[in-house]
Amino acid sequence: MKKILITGGAGFIGSHVVRLFVNKYPDYHIVNLDKLTYAGNLENLKDVQNASNYEFVKGDIVDGDFIMSLFEEQRFDGVIHLAAESHVDRSILNPMAFVETNVLGTVNLLNAFKAHGDHENGLFYHVSTDEVYGELDDEGFFTESTPYSPNSPYSASKASSDHFVRAYHATYGTPVKISNCSNNYGSHQFPEKLIPLFINNIKHLKSLPVYGEGTNVRDWLWVEDHARAIDVIYHNGVLGETYNIGGNNEWKNIDLIHLLCKLMDQKLDRPEGDSAQLITFVKDRSGHDFRYAIDSSKLMNELDWVPSLQFEEGLSKTIDWYLQNEEWLENVTSGSYQSYYQEMYAGRS
Ligand code: NAD
Ligand code: TYD
Repeated sequence: MKKILITGGAGFIGSHVVRLFVNKYPDYHIVNLDKLTYAGNLENLKDVQNASNYEFVKGDIVDGDFIMSLFEEQRFDGVIHLAAESHVDRSILNPMAFVETNVLGTVNLLNAFKAHGDHENGLFYHVSTDEVYGELDDEGFFTESTPYSPNSPYSASKASSDHFVRAYHATYGTPVKISNCSNNYGSHQFPEKLIPLFINNIKHLKSLPVYGEGTNVRDWLWVEDHARAIDVIYHNGVLGETYNIGGNNEWKNIDLIHLLCKLMDQKLDRPEGDSAQLITFVKDRSGHDFRYAIDSSKLMNELDWVPSLQFEEGLSKTIDWYLQNEEWLENVTSGSYQSYYQEMYAGRS
């Protein structure tokens, strides 16, 4: 039985990847390693927690000794590495946490895999972001050969971790693959990112803080399509290669927010235009990347992957999930979320 470590499996994307692998591959033993930071939540995995091929380990990838002994004990065949500090705004407040988890944590995992993993025939799969490429103006797309040019402490830390993964492949022959994906949306996303934050605020009739003029552009991908891409790349991608993953689904923030407001009005039975009145333009994010857009033709042509959901349908399903999972939303927005919100948004308007 192959033993696969998934790091960050209690987070947003990680929980979708764990679910897919546990259900689709009963003959893999899946170990989910997660520190359970503010963003990690075992509630996200309730439906697989008792599966016989699943095991949870609480631990910190920054703790090199712990990681080395875990790998010595478990002898993983493969690693899918998602654990990270993932929010750009938090990285502006506290870059060091991003250096520690995203850079040091990744190098700890690479060292442990080199020492005790299946370094000959296994795989270290590193999950990364398109933000490493920097920003685009109105034209063009990121391809796998776009030079790295990160602008935020978050993207700089992810770029650094990508470089270490490539360097271990070149220097030690570590079998690696990397993917760089655009903005994900869907169920179980912590409400600090645009879509779940705004769903929560609309629900509670709180203002919707739009950075700058709302003209920045993002490419949005349904999280389960990202999980499917990871599955395809893990199994069929070429060692040492990078794959870009995107939704071919660009939205100007303000247009996306108006669509979200319209759908929320319908679902909450509010008069049309009600939620849009909550829109408030606030001080822009420092170093705010203007546009991200991904060319995923390599993944589509070589590995036969295509995004499955249209955006409006995905957004509608996402809203339904948050409205049906009130307790989840209340649990994650009590306690420290309140002080985070105050620190991030109080001085902004
Ligand atoms: P998330 O913040 O929702 O979850 C991160 C998970 O990592 C949490 O479960 C957290 O507890 C865990 N974690 C954090 N620090 C840890 C540590 N030191 N040790 C062990 N576990 C730790 O993040 P996400 O949005 O699910 O992103 C997952 C990965 O995908 C990240 O590597 C991120 O850079 C990448 N990514 C995210 C997006 C996106 O739109 N969210 C897009 C492209 C790539
Ligand atoms: P976010 O979800 O934080 O993802 P990323 O910064 O990784 O792209 O933000 C998506 C876009 O929404 C980005 O252009 C910033 C903007 N935004 C706001 O306008 N207001 C907010 O409160 C947040 C969190 C984001």
